[in-house]
Amino acid sequence: ARIVVLVSGTGTLLQALLDEAGQPHFPARVVAVGADRAKIEGIARAERAGIPAFAVRVADHPDRAAWDAALTAAVAAHEPDLVVSAGFMKILGPAFLDRFGGRVINTHPALLPSFPGAHAVADALAHGVRYTGSTVHLVDGGVDTGPIIAQEPVPVHAGDDEAGLHERIKAVERRLLVEVVAGMARQGYTVDGRKVSIP
Ligand code: GRF
Repeated sequence: ARIVVLVSGTGTLLQALLDEAGQPHFPARVVAVGADRAKIEGIARAERAGIPAFAVRVADHPDRAAWDAALTAAVAAHEPDLVVSAGFMKILGPAFLDRFGGRVINTHPALLPSFPGAHAVADALAHGVRYTGSTVHLVDGGVDTGPIIAQEPVPVHAGDDEAGLHERIKAVERRLLVEVVAGMARQGYTVDGRKVSIP
């Protein structure tokens, strides 16, 4: 299966996929990496792996719809079977979801539907939960609202700060994301009764 990964930051989740997808037994290859900003470690990781990387910046487009169309075209050029949003911090618009709907997954550092949005780790910590976790879900038009594919709880330790808890979550996210991608590439997934399979 051909995967395009979307990133916005350090790209450690991307790196986990690159490390696995480079192995002969892994049923998927990362064919390109897309970002919403140019100078980020996630792009550098792709370049080091010799994989095409592109940045589609909102600031370079007259409006959000034009950005959405440009991102859709840039991703479509690589003919992905699956799009993986791994720390991508923009909402994917209608043009993107029309083109790739049902084949876009996202990883979120909380047990959705708890703590959606861009500050999930801080919000969980502030709420005083004893457990938070990692969620991999299908992307729909909402914010972190699509059908859940996989989840794993992560304990909160006394004295945790956001960075420490987020690192503990990301260690789980990396493993869960690789498992879900391998599963989807091998036999597809049934989510909410719907078969999500990729060639
Ligand atoms: C991950 O925890 C992801 O769930 C969240 O941002 C983090 C991205 O980390 N949206 P990285 O850029 O892959 O290191």
